[in-house]
Amino acid sequence: MSHWLISGGSVLNGSVPVQGSKNAALPILAATLLIEEPIELKNVPVIRDTENMLRILRSLGCTVKREGDALIVDSRTANNCVLPTALSGELRSSIFLLGSVLSRFGAADAPYPGGCEIGNRPIDLHLKGLRALNAKITEEGGRIRCAGGSLQGATVDLGYPSVGATENIMLAACRAAGTTTIRNAACEPEIVDLERFLCACGFCVHGAGTPAVVIEGVLKGHGVSYRVMPDRIVTGTYLLSGAITGGDVTVTGAQPETVEPLLFKLSECGCLVTRQTDSVRIRAPKRPRAIGFTETRPYPGFPTDLQPQLFALLSVADGTSVLTENVFESRFRHAQELKKMGAENRILDRTAIITGVERLHGACVTAHDLRGGAALALAGLQAEGETRILHAERIERGYERMDSVIAALGGLITRKEESIGE
Ligand code: UD1
Repeated sequence: MSHWLISGGSVLNGSVPVQGSKNAALPILAATLLIEEPIELKNVPVIRDTENMLRILRSLGCTVKREGDALIVDSRTANNCVLPTALSGELRSSIFLLGSVLSRFGAADAPYPGGCEIGNRPIDLHLKGLRALNAKITEEGGRIRCAGGSLQGATVDLGYPSVGATENIMLAACRAAGTTTIRNAACEPEIVDLERFLCACGFCVHGAGTPAVVIEGVLKGHGVSYRVMPDRIVTGTYLLSGAITGGDVTVTGAQPETVEPLLFKLSECGCLVTRQTDSVRIRAPKRPRAIGFTETRPYPGFPTDLQPQLFALLSVADGTSVLTENVFESRFRHAQELKKMGAENRILDRTAIITGVERLHGACVTAHDLRGGAALALAGLQAEGETRILHAERIERGYERMDSVIAALGGLITRKEESIGE
C-alpha cells in the first residue's frame, strides 16, 4: 500500500504538460497482438495500469522493451492464449484482450473480471459482440473460454454504448472475414485514437467517434510508430487543481476539444477559460460558484471519470449543486471521505446534493478507487492542514507522478511507499 500526505493551502499556478492517455494506451497495447511485427509506441504513460498490461503481454509471450521515451512491443514471440488470473484481477481492462487474443490464436481463456469498486461492471456486451462474430464462448469455473478459429464479420447492435465492448469488438473484427458493423458504438475520443492506430497498421476501420463503426477484415497488419493521444481526464484533473485552489493553471500538450464538457462547467463556476490548439488555461475566482445540475453521460456528455473531481470542486463552491451519476451505479464513495474533511453532501440513489463550504480541513481519508482518490487529492490541496490519503496506489493506477506535477504548480504532495499497517 502507498499513502500520500498533502499539505493544503497553496494557490496553484503555472503550466504543466499532460501525460498520454491511459484509456487510449490500454486498448492500443491489446491491439499489438494483432500485428506480428514490432510496434513503437510513444506517450504511453508510466502508471500501474499500463505496467500491469505490459506484464500480461509478456506472460502471453510478447517481447516488451523501453527505448528512451518509446515502448517497443513485439508480438512475433507470443505463444499463449491464457490470461493470467492474478494480473488480470488487478487490471479490469485485461478483458479488452479477449478480442485480440482470440483473433491472434483462434482461442482465448480469461478469468471472469467480476465486480469492482465503482459497480458491477458486467461484460455481457463484450460477449454478445464476440459471439456475433462467431466465437464459441463458455463461462465456467470463473473463467471465460473462447474458441473462434474462423471469426466472421457481422452487425452488432450494442444497445448501450459501452467503451470497452466497442473496442473489444473492433479488435476481434480487424482480421475477421468480411465486414463488421458496430451499432450504438461508444463515441469516446479514445476509440477514435484506437481507430487511428489500427488504420496506421494497415487495418480498415472507419466511423469511430460516431455511433456506427465499420471494420473491413484484413488478413494482417504491419508494424508502425504511433503516438498515443493526451489524457483528457488527467487534463481535467489538473485544471480542477487550479479551480479548487483559486489559481491559474495551464495544461499543455492537451486536446482541449476533448475536455469541452468540463470547460463548460468550469466557466459556469466562474473560471475564465482560454483554449489554444494544444493547451488550455483556467483562471479561477477566489471561490467557485455552485452549478445547478450536472449529470454524467457517455461522450460527448460529462465524463463519469471526472465526476469525483468535479464533486470535490463543488464541495467548496458558493451555494448548492446537484450531481447525478448515470454511468456507474456506485461511484460516490468519495462523498463519505470528503465529509471527513468537512464537506456537506447527501446522496439520494444516483444523485448527490452538495452544499459548498468555504474551506475543507485535513483528515485521514481512503482512496476507494482511482478517480475518487484523485478527488481527495484535489480536496487536500484546498484544505486547511494536512490530509493523509490511504491506498493512494489506486490513484497511481492512472496518474503519472502526480506529486511532481502538483509540485511544479506550487502544491505539496508527499508519497510514502511503506505500509502503515492498515
Ligand atoms: C471505460 C473506461 C473507464 C470509463 C468508462 C466509461 C477504459 C480502460 N476504461 O470503462 O475509465 O469510466 O469507459 O466512460 O477505457 N456495461 C454493461 N455490460 C457490458 C459493458 C458495460 O452493462 O458488457 C455497463 C457498465 O456496467 C457501466 C456502463 O456500461 O455501467 C459503461 O461501461 P463501459 O462504457 O463499458 O466502461 P468500460 O469500458 O469498462
